[in-house]
Formats: sequence, C-alpha cells, structure tokens
Amino acid sequence: MATRFGVIGTGVWGETHLKAYSEDPLAELACICDKDEKLVRRRARQYKPQKWTTDYRELLADDTIAAVSIVTPDPLHREVAIAAAEAGKHILVEKPLATTVEDCEAIIAAAKKNKVKLMVDFHNRFNTPFTETRAAIDAGEIGEPQLIVLRLNDTIYVPTKMLSWAGKSTVAWFLCSHATDLVRWLFDDDVKRVYSVARSKVLKGLGINTPDFFVTTLEMRKGGVANIENCWIMSDRMPTIFDFKMELVGEKGTLFADVSSHRMLQKFSKKEAVYPDVHCQPDVHGKTVGFTVEAIHYWVRCVVEDLEPLVTGQDGLEVTKVICAIEESVRTGQPVDL
Ligand SMILES: NC(=O)c1ccc[n+]([C@@H]2O[C@H](COP(=O)([O-])OP(=O)(O)OC[C@H]3O[C@@H](n4cnc5c(N)ncnc54)[C@H](O)[C@@H]3O)[C@@H](O)[C@H]2O)c1
Repeated sequence: MATRFGVIGTGVWGETHLKAYSEDPLAELACICDKDEKLVRRRARQYKPQKWTTDYRELLADDTIAAVSIVTPDPLHREVAIAAAEAGKHILVEKPLATTVEDCEAIIAAAKKNKVKLMVDFHNRFNTPFTETRAAIDAGEIGEPQLIVLRLNDTIYVPTKMLSWAGKSTVAWFLCSHATDLVRWLFDDDVKRVYSVARSKVLKGLGINTPDFFVTTLEMRKGGVANIENCWIMSDRMPTIFDFKMELVGEKGTLFADVSSHRMLQKFSKKEAVYPDVHCQPDVHGKTVGFTVEAIHYWVRCVVEDLEPLVTGQDGLEVTKVICAIEESVRTGQPVDL
C-alpha cells in the first residue's frame, strides 16, 4: 500500500507538491489543507486527494498520514511544523525553514523529540547543472572551489503579482536562501562572515515595503568567497521569470551555469516572446518532470525507505542564520561574523 502524505498550504508553490505526490507511485495524496476554502476546493477537484480541510489540525489528527509538506508563507512555518512533529508526521518544509534562528531551533528540537524526519525543500540540490557541478568537485576535476559568483533574480512580476506577502518578506529570504544553501553545499563549508548592501526604491514606490535588491558577500570558514546578487525588480519583459547564473572558480578549473537563459526552447508568438519552462517542472505527456518535483519524489523515497534526507533541519538553520546576518549587515553597514 502506498504511503500517505498531506499538504498544508496549497497556494502557488503548494501546487508543485500536489503535482509531485499525486504523480508518485509510492505516495498517496491523503489530505490537503488550506485556510482559503475556495482555493482548497479547487485544488481538490484537480488533484483528487481523499480529503480536504481548512484546518491543519484536522489533517494532523489523521493517524494514517505518515508525512506532510508545509507550504505556508515563510513566517508561518513554525506553528504548523511543530504541530506536525508533535503529531508524529515526517515533515518537508518549504524554504526557508523559518525566518528566525529561534523558530528554526524550535522546529528542529520538535522533530528530534518526536523522532520524525525533517527536510527543507532546497531543491537546487536536485537541479542538474548543480548536481553536475558538485560531481565535478567531488571527482577532483576542478580542485578546491575558491570563488562562486551567483545571481538568482526574479522579474518584478514575482513581488508585485505572484506573491501576496512580498511586503512581509524580502528577496533575501525568497531567493538568497536558495543561493546560500547552494553555496554551502558546493563549498561543503559553513559561512563565517557576511557583508550585504540593499537598496529600496522601486517596490517601495509601488507601496510594497521590501528592498529591490541585495548584493551579498559570504566568506566561508575554509577561505572560499561567494558573491551573490538577488534582485526583485528585473524587467517583466524578460523571456523568463527568473535570472539564474553561476560561475564557480576552483584551484584547477572553472564552471559556468546558465539555468535561466539556456534557450533550449524559444517561443515567439503574437502574444509573447518567451523561453518556456523546459527544466523546472514541464509537463511530459501528463507527467510533471524537472528538479522541483524531483526534490519531492526524493523526499517520498526518504519516508518510504527510511533514508536520512540530503537536506537537513541543520542546513535550514544555517541558511536562516546567514539571512538574518544579511539583514543585520544591511541595517548596520558592517560585516557580521557568524
Ligand atoms: N521552492 C521554491 O522555489 C519556492 C517557490 C515559491 C515559494 N516557495 C515557498 O513556499 C512557501 C509558500 O509560498 P507560496 O508562493 O506558495 O505562497 P502562497 O501565498 O501562494 O500560498 C501559501 C498558502 O498557505 C495558506 N495558508 C497560510 N496559513 C495557513 C494555515 N495556517 N493553514 C493552512 N493554510 C495556510 C494560504 O492561504 C495560501 O494559500 C513559502 O515558504 C515560499 O518561500 C518556494
């Protein structure tokens, strides 16, 4: 019998989890929950879980459910994650694990106390340009990584039209959390010192109180350095919704990744000029493929086969420490030591 999963939060990204569970032969989509009844009813009609609810406590009270995804907005992960751990469910939490160090520690402690698995959905560890980069490092092909220059940006569509809660968050939480996890994973090291600069003008002018961009330097403990750009005001006339590039310089070699403008497919129609998604979660004859669902299929395997997830609660905590340090560095104009 397939293992039973639940999803709490069925908004923009919750739908990715619904696709993955409903298409995974090892999983059964048992129950989905959103406090927005109209939305959860619509999702239930499309993804056909056994049950739906607007109260996550009702989902957690179902003893036949083994594990849950938590896909609520960033600042709301703690309450649901701790309740899930207390109910004995294994937990996949969307990134960032939480927006304070204290919240992360409380979630990790609850998972440990209740002996449940905890994974943070840093899905770029399943993104093939980066898994290949990591493989090249592990094979010794480029020597020890020295410098990473990484840009992960969104068009202005994301904070103005896609996310209803952008003004309560920042592009550092939304995108630099991914970038920081990648940098930690590729260097195989923790961050020692953080310097960051941000500017607020365009989004503020539109009434969304969040910075336009952050430019951040991370010094790693073993000496590596990363320079990261995260911007939320790229033109929405761009052919992709995000702009994702990396340069990695090792002692003996260099790698360049272009994850957004690879032009594998270019579409020019009366309506638009775009590079359609062929990599994140395209549909192939009725089945969703791509790294964003691959991370969730991997999580299903961790639960079903009792494996230790590749991305841990500790990884989530380390990233949250860095993003908090970025905010402090921006506020004080000073470097922040971790
Ligand atoms: N991995 C990625 O690349 C990626 C991309 C987008 C979003 N995310 C993350 O996913 C999470 C959700 O983001 P989103 O864009 O889907 O936001 P969203 O606003 O579209 O969806 C969040 C949903 O959670 C629901 N919700 C809030 N509190 C709830 C509660 N107590 N019980 C039940 N439902 C509740 C809301 O009604 C909403 O429908 C965030 O942490 C975000 O950072 C990750």
